[in-house]
Amino acid sequence: MIKIALVGANGRMGQVISRMAADSDKVEIVCGIDINTQKNFDYPVYESFDDVTEEIDVIIDFSHHNSLLGTLCYATKYEKPAVIATTGLTEEKKNCLEIASKKIPIFFSANMSLGVNLIIELAKKATQVLNGFDIEIIEKHHNQKLDAPSGTALAIADAINETLEEPAEYIYDRHSSRKKRSKNEIGIHAVRGGTIVGEHDILFAGCDEIIEIKHTATSREIFASGALSAAIFMYGKKRGMYSMSDLIKGE
Ligand SMILES: NC(=O)c1ccc[n+]([C@@H]2O[C@H](COP(=O)([O-])OP(=O)(O)OC[C@H]3O[C@@H](n4cnc5c(N)ncnc54)[C@H](O)[C@@H]3O)[C@@H](O)[C@H]2O)c1
Repeated sequence: MIKIALVGANGRMGQVISRMAADSDKVEIVCGIDINTQKNFDYPVYESFDDVTEEIDVIIDFSHHNSLLGTLCYATKYEKPAVIATTGLTEEKKNCLEIASKKIPIFFSANMSLGVNLIIELAKKATQVLNGFDIEIIEKHHNQKLDAPSGTALAIADAINETLEEPAEYIYDRHSSRKKRSKNEIGIHAVRGGTIVGEHDILFAGCDEIIEIKHTATSREIFASGALSAAIFMYGKKRGMYSMSDLIKGE
C-alpha cells in the first residue's frame, strides 16, 4: 500500500479522496494536514507537517496556496514525491514548484481529469485549424470557489497561447474599458453559482460559424481518482516536473 499524507484533508476534495482511498487496495491515507484538525476518517489530522510522525510515501495537496511552502519544505527535506492539485498559485509559487522539482519529483496539474486534459489537446488543434477565430473561455464553478478565473481556464489559455504564432493577451474584465474586442486576445470569463462542480467551455467564434469545445464535471470523483492515480504513478519516480500528459502516456 502506498502511504499518503493528504493536505487539505477536511476540504471538499480531501473528503472525496478520503472516501475513495478507504475503498482502495493500492493506497492508504496515513495522515491529513489541515488548519481544520477535525478527525473525520480513521487517520489523524495535523495542523502542520511539524507534527507528522507517520512514514509517508507520497503527498497529495488539495488545499490553499498558503499551504504550498509547508508542503514543499517537508517534501524536499524527506525527499518525498508531491502531487500538487491546489490552484490559484502565483507565478512566484509556480516557480517554487520548479525549484523543488530539481530535488524531488513534483506532479502539478490544475485539473486532474482525463477529459479536461483531452479538451486542452483539442483546443490546441482547433487553434491551429481555426486561424483568425476569436477565442473566449467561459468557466463555471460553485459559489464557494475562492480563485477566479479557475486554474483550468488559465491552463487552457496558456496551452492555446503556446500554439499561436503571436501570444494573445488575456482579457478578464470587459467592463473596465469601452472598446471593441481586438484580434489578439483571449477573453476569460468566470461564472460562480450554486454547487456547479466545474464547466469549461472554449468558444471559437468565426465569420458565420461557431465551434465550442466543452467539458462538464458532474462529480468531484474524477479529480480525486486522477489525483490517486497520480500518487501511484509518482511513487518511486526520479526528481523532476510531471504532469497529466506524463500520466496519460505512462512515462
Ligand atoms: N487540480 C484539480 O483537479 C482540482 C480539482 C478541484 C479543486 N482543486 C483545487 O483544490 C483546492 C481545494 O479545493 P476544495 O474544493 O477541496 O476546497 P475547500 O475550501 O473545500 O478545502 C480546502 C481545505 O484546505 C484547508 N486549508 C486552507 N488553508 C490551509 C493551509 N494553509 N494549510 C492546510 N490546509 C489548509 C481548509 O481548511 C480546507 O479543509 C482548491 O485550490 C481548488 O481550486 C483542484
